[in-house]
Amino acid sequence: MTDATPRRPPLVPSGLDLSGRTALVTGGASGIGRACAARLAAAGAHVVVLDRDADAATSAAAEVGGEALVVDLADPSGIDRLALDADVLVNNAGLQHVAPVEGFPPETFALILRVMLEAPFRLARLVLPGMYARGWGRLIHISSVHGHRASAFKAAYVAAKHGLEGLSKVIALEAAGRGVTSNTVCPGYVRTPLVENQLAAQAAAHGIDEGAVLDEVLLARTPVKRLVEPAEVAELVAFLCGAGTSSITGTSFSLDGGWTAT
Ligand SMILES: NC(=O)c1ccc[n+]([C@@H]2O[C@H](COP(=O)([O-])OP(=O)(O)OC[C@H]3O[C@@H](n4cnc5c(N)ncnc54)[C@H](O)[C@@H]3O)[C@@H](O)[C@H]2O)c1
Repeated sequence: MTDATPRRPPLVPSGLDLSGRTALVTGGASGIGRACAARLAAAGAHVVVLDRDADAATSAAAEVGGEALVVDLADPSGIDRLALDADVLVNNAGLQHVAPVEGFPPETFALILRVMLEAPFRLARLVLPGMYARGWGRLIHISSVHGHRASAFKAAYVAAKHGLEGLSKVIALEAAGRGVTSNTVCPGYVRTPLVENQLAAQAAAHGIDEGAVLDEVLLARTPVKRLVEPAEVAELVAFLCGAGTSSITGTSFSLDGGWTAT
């Protein structure tokens, strides 16, 4: 190559700069959502921490210089009343209930579907018009290995996450060519309160002590024998907001220590 040869721009993306952008993170008061809020704020975004837990949302928002929005995502009409605008939407809020199908309370099944599937749809409806108008937007749905794999006793959670995978793909198709992408991030077990609470529930369901649940149940199908850290999930979310990602859409990113490779 001579000095006159045109050089390609470097393939390494530049540092993430979200200054001037607003990021809405649901369930941003705890666990993965809190880590996403911190990571996106560190990149310069104005972060809105949406959560039903007012105290935790206020403290998480204060930590990142953002704002708290106290909303119960189980209430569809409450969502529809929101005047929302965002450049980045992280659909993250979630909950778990562990029971065999024949003993699974139907109202709990409906609640989980409302919070983890219907709310992401309703929030997307609210923010997409602004994203389309500005020609840029990122929808990142925190799905799970359970968006692609089933586990016994998790009927509602697995159904909601499989549904979220489908919703994300439909949004990706509709948003194509408008600067807006939609993708899912699919962690294995992450070190958060949601998982810590499951240890006790799984122990009861499987009839083993809590100490054995981590190795023998939660990580039984995971070659990398450790929990994923919330900051690792947040880093992948940040990547999807960065340079060179406009063709990455309608797809799903595993962060599962090799679980889905087995
Ligand atoms: N922790 C894991 O191992 C793991 C693995 C894969 C996927 N996920 C997904 O990541 C997301 C976050 O999980 P986490 O482990 O950080 O959970 P978490 O329990 O630490 O935090 C969940 C947050 O969502 C909020 N929330 C729950 N219901 C809500 C509602 N009705 N309205 C508003 N806010 C509500 C809670 O208040 C809480 O702040 C979930 O969607 C979960 O399915 C978690």
